[in-house]
Amino acid sequence: MRIEELLALYASHAAVDSQEMLARALSLPADIRDGSERYSTLVDKLPLPRDPESVIVAGMGGSFIGGLFLQDALYEESSKMIIPLRETGLPGSVNERHLLVAVSYSGNTEETLRVVLEARRRRIPTVAVTSGGLLAKLATEWKIPLVEVPSGLKPRAAFPYMCTALAAVVEAAGLVDGLMLKLKEAAGFLENVKQEVLDAGNSLARWLFEQYEAGNFPVVYSYRPFLSAGYRLKTQINENAKLHAFFSEIPEANHNEIMGWEGPFRFSAVIVRAPGEPPYVHHRMEFLRELLRGRGVKHVEVHAIGENQLQKLLSLFYAFDIASILLALLRGTDPAPTATIDSLKKYLEERIDISREI
Ligand code: PA5
Repeated sequence: MRIEELLALYASHAAVDSQEMLARALSLPADIRDGSERYSTLVDKLPLPRDPESVIVAGMGGSFIGGLFLQDALYEESSKMIIPLRETGLPGSVNERHLLVAVSYSGNTEETLRVVLEARRRRIPTVAVTSGGLLAKLATEWKIPLVEVPSGLKPRAAFPYMCTALAAVVEAAGLVDGLMLKLKEAAGFLENVKQEVLDAGNSLARWLFEQYEAGNFPVVYSYRPFLSAGYRLKTQINENAKLHAFFSEIPEANHNEIMGWEGPFRFSAVIVRAPGEPPYVHHRMEFLRELLRGRGVKHVEVHAIGENQLQKLLSLFYAFDIASILLALLRGTDPAPTATIDSLKKYLEERIDISREI
């Protein structure tokens, strides 16, 4: 289906898309290109220690996914460990030889600010990625290198900017070479395969919608180095479509969770696949598919496209982001607001004032 036809198909639902999240999701390749151009000069300019022992990327929710993406993207290539962190504190082993990247789109997320405070106390080199808030203020006051991402977006929709900003940071820290260029090249690839990705996203949205209507909630199965894509689908369904979805990792799920398919269930399954799976992955994924078939579990496979790791990973992000928003529209739900998360943040703000702890 051509892009115009797809948009026409969803036109009657689009009225609920108050912040044009679908248009934003469709522009992922353009936003990656923009981000890689914006941040490419930072590679030589950011005053960061070279060759830290590891890079810890701290953030929550929409500001966590960039770190997980980076870990997958550089799983085989990076000279040092990239550790995504979604906690209120740093592990004791992190010291001044490591680098902390604090990511918070709003700049006001308590968990991430707490990690930054602890890093300051422990003299751990830090760089901030944010669109503003207290994190930007602290970065200026404490002379922490700051990478600004464009404001006015939903955090999860700022993924292309956050991932290109993170790429600039790890390149500046000497973990990898040429990543910004490769991201730009991957953006060009995504433009070329946009139609194919859209079709995949549309089919997945319709399939998920049918499954929800039948009372089945999806478990998304993925494996390294595509965990971030599977996890992204789960969280995007949660936040955009306001529905439960669950995430599971192969091979670990083979040693516990798959037993659940022996009992009663109200789940369906989405299986992430990619070209070039090594045999030890391929056989496990084939077993899983046959197991689900045998147990009568409704399931669908979504295949990455591309010739290198970045292309494959981003093709999945692109399809999944679109699918989650189309699913929201099919349900007549506005993908933008996250009222329950907002009420939690308000509840906590009334009880915990992190600015007083600084
Ligand atoms: O997508 C969202 O809106 C959330 O997952 C937020 O990213 C999360 O609550 C953390 O906020 P922030 O990204 O502003 O640090």
